[in-house]
Amino acid sequence: MADVKSVGVIGGGQMGSGIAQLAAVAGISVWLVDLDSEALKRATKSITNSVQRFVSKGQISQEVATNALKNLRCTSNLEDLQSADVIIEAIVESEDVKKKLFSELDRIAKPSAILASNTSSISITRIASATSRPCQVIGMHFMNPPPIMKLVEIVRGADTSNETFMTVKTMAERFGKIIVCSQDYPGFIVNRILMPMINEAFFTLYTGVATKEDIDTGMKLGTNQPMGPLELADFIGLDVCLSIMKVLHVGLGDSKYRPCPLLVQYVDAGRLGRKRASKEFVVTLVAVKTKH
Ligand code: NAI
Repeated sequence: MADVKSVGVIGGGQMGSGIAQLAAVAGISVWLVDLDSEALKRATKSITNSVQRFVSKGQISQEVATNALKNLRCTSNLEDLQSADVIIEAIVESEDVKKKLFSELDRIAKPSAILASNTSSISITRIASATSRPCQVIGMHFMNPPPIMKLVEIVRGADTSNETFMTVKTMAERFGKIIVCSQDYPGFIVNRILMPMINEAFFTLYTGVATKEDIDTGMKLGTNQPMGPLELADFIGLDVCLSIMKVLHVGLGDSKYRPCPLLVQYVDAGRLGRKRASKEFVVTLVAVKTKH
């Protein structure tokens, strides 16, 4: 099992920045890659603020925080990942885009490097098929926000080796996480169960059963969850929720996974939730007139 000294994280959005922070705080040297230099600036700011919050809560020392920021470097050049032991991809939830990236990483990364994907639902086996090293490809599905949420769902593709699994499991534990292991089927464990619930909440709103507030309050207090399903969708990103529902629908072939038209319409309109338009989504959902 390899000792991980250097990690590359691709995608500096809400997930990638949190994953880069975890690795940096664990004392690992990190390259954070994003095509968008503004995303890298936002990621650096959010990581700096987040580690300081951990210091002020007494959860890490100032020395660990200072070293974490020294461990972190940002780039838009994939070639900087040549010496990374593990590369974790956290870009857009699209199979074609991820496969293209993995094929590129296969060319750039050193032969022993493990290529992990933070995909929420896409087949690890199919992503691995874009590389010449499928035994070194694995799913490493962090929860949002990665620095806070305890779980990492590890997904084994058809060819993932035990050595790859053990290296990634040990690294996740070094990040302070608890792991669960899923076989490679659409949505894995968490999103197979969570996303149909969120989609159903959209259908409940769309068909005029209840207001957004009552749906969220009902689920929050009635099932003892920290936030309602619509608020959670807003937090995850509606584009991510829709992509996962499409993967479940196509991959499991059952109409019960059909994405709610209201969810589709919001994504078409660019109303993606907090990450893009803080209050807009909430306000617009309240204004939705249900027709049925
Ligand atoms: P995001 O939209 O916040 O960030 C994606 C970032 O990737 C953007 O900054 C974009 O500029 C960058 N990017 C896109 N293509 C790129 C490329 N070819 N090379 C380098 N950078 C590129 O997305 P988010 O929410 O962080 O999701 C990323 C992945 O994590 C997706 O696969 C998603 O399904 C998964 N995920 C998301 C969760 C969530 O709650 N949002 C939870 C768990 C997993």
